[in-house]
Amino acid sequence: MISESDCIALDEQDPLADEAVKYYLPDGMLYFAGHSLGALPVAAQKRVASIIRDEWGEQLVGGWNGAGWYSSPARVGAKIAQLIGADADEVTVTDSTSVNLFKTIIAAMGLNTQRKVCLTDREIFPTDFYIMQGIEELLGERFLLKAVQRDRIPEEIGDDTGLLVLSHVDYRTGDVFDMRSITRRVHQAGGLVLWDLCHSAGILDISLNQVKADFALGCGYKFLNGGPGAPSFVYVAKRHQEHISQPLWGWMGHANPFAFDETYESAPGIRRMLCGTPSIIAMGCFEAALDELLAVSIQAIQDKSRKLTRLFIELMKERCADFGFTLISSQNDAIRGSQISYTHEQGYAIMQALIANNVIGDFRAPDCVRFGVSPLYLSYMDIWRAVDTLRIIMETEAWQKFQGQKKETVT
Ligand SMILES: Cc1ncc(COP(=O)(O)O)c(C=O)c1O
Repeated sequence: MISESDCIALDEQDPLADEAVKYYLPDGMLYFAGHSLGALPVAAQKRVASIIRDEWGEQLVGGWNGAGWYSSPARVGAKIAQLIGADADEVTVTDSTSVNLFKTIIAAMGLNTQRKVCLTDREIFPTDFYIMQGIEELLGERFLLKAVQRDRIPEEIGDDTGLLVLSHVDYRTGDVFDMRSITRRVHQAGGLVLWDLCHSAGILDISLNQVKADFALGCGYKFLNGGPGAPSFVYVAKRHQEHISQPLWGWMGHANPFAFDETYESAPGIRRMLCGTPSIIAMGCFEAALDELLAVSIQAIQDKSRKLTRLFIELMKERCADFGFTLISSQNDAIRGSQISYTHEQGYAIMQALIANNVIGDFRAPDCVRFGVSPLYLSYMDIWRAVDTLRIIMETEAWQKFQGQKKETVT
C-alpha cells in the first residue's frame, strides 16, 4: 500500500520540485487540466505587461524591427524545435492548429499528386477530422479521405497512401502512437506522415528528426503553457521545405513581403508556412512560457510525468477500486501520455463534484473524466490529495448533487 509519507518522500527527492513556484495557481487548487490549458507562468504575465507597456506603448510601429516582432515566428519556432527534436529552421509559429492542419495537409498531398489517399484514425480529434473532410469537399476526387479504426492503420498503409495524419497522443485515452515504427512503415510504402503533437509537445521527449518525421504541428496552450488560444507551431522537415506549396498565400509567407509584388512567390524554407501578421502579445506570452520550459530538461519532465501518472493509477486501484471507474489509459509507461482517463457513467457529475472541491480535471462526452498531469506544477502529494478527494466524493456520494445538471458549454 502506498502511504501519504511515501508521497512526501517522493516530493523530497523530486528534482523538479522547485519549478512550481514559477507558475501561478490559485491557493488550494489542484490543477489537473494542463492537457487542456496549461497554468500561467509568472514570467509570461510579466512579459505580456512589458510588451504592452514598453514595446507597443513606447515603440509603437517601430516594435516590428526594434523589438523583434517581425522575426518572432522564427525565433519562437526555434525554441519549440529544441523540445521536439527538430532543427531551428524547421519550425515556425503561426495561426491555429486547425488552420495549420489545412495548410500542411494540402502542402503534403501536393508532394505526390499520384497518391490521393489521406489515411487517418477514425477517432482522431474532431478538428483534424473536420479539416480533412473540408479538404475532401474542396478538392473532390483529388483527395480521398480514408478514416479507419485505429488498430487497422498499419494494415491500411499501402501504395496509394499519400499521407497519414495521426495524433501522437490520443486526446481521450492519452495513449501514445509509436512515432518511429509508424513513420518507418509509411515511408516504406512511399507515403508521408503528419503528426499532431497537441498532447505531446512539452511533455514527451520527441525526436522528429531521428524518426525522420515529415510534418508535425501542435498547439501552444496545453503542456507548452502558452496561454488560452496561444498560436500553433508547424514543423516541416528540411528535405520537403523547398518542394511544398501551402494554400494560404498570405504576405508573411511571401519571399519578400515588403516588396509588395503583384504575384505570390513562396518564401524560402519554413517561412512559407506563414500567412498573415502574427499576434505579438500572444507570441510574447508563449515565448516566455517556452523559456521556462527550456530551463528544464524534457527528459526530466517526461520521467516525472510517468512517475506521477503511475502513482495516480496505483492510488486509484488502492483507494477507489470499488466505485465503478474503468481505466482507459495504458498502464504501460511507454505508451501513456501525461493524462489519465477513466470512464464512469456518472463522469460529468463526478467531475463537477471534484471541481467544486478544487480538483480541476475535465470531462469528454459521453462518459470520460480526464486528469492531465503537468510535472512542472504538480507534486506527488498533489496526486495523493486529488485521489483522496475523489475517494471522499465517491464514499459520501457528494457527486449526486450534480447529477442531471445542465452541462456547461466547455466541459
Ligand atoms: C489533438 C488536437 N488537435 C487539435 C486541437 C485544437 O486545435 P485548435 O487549437 O485549432 O482549436 C486539439 C484541442 O484540444 C487537440 O486536442
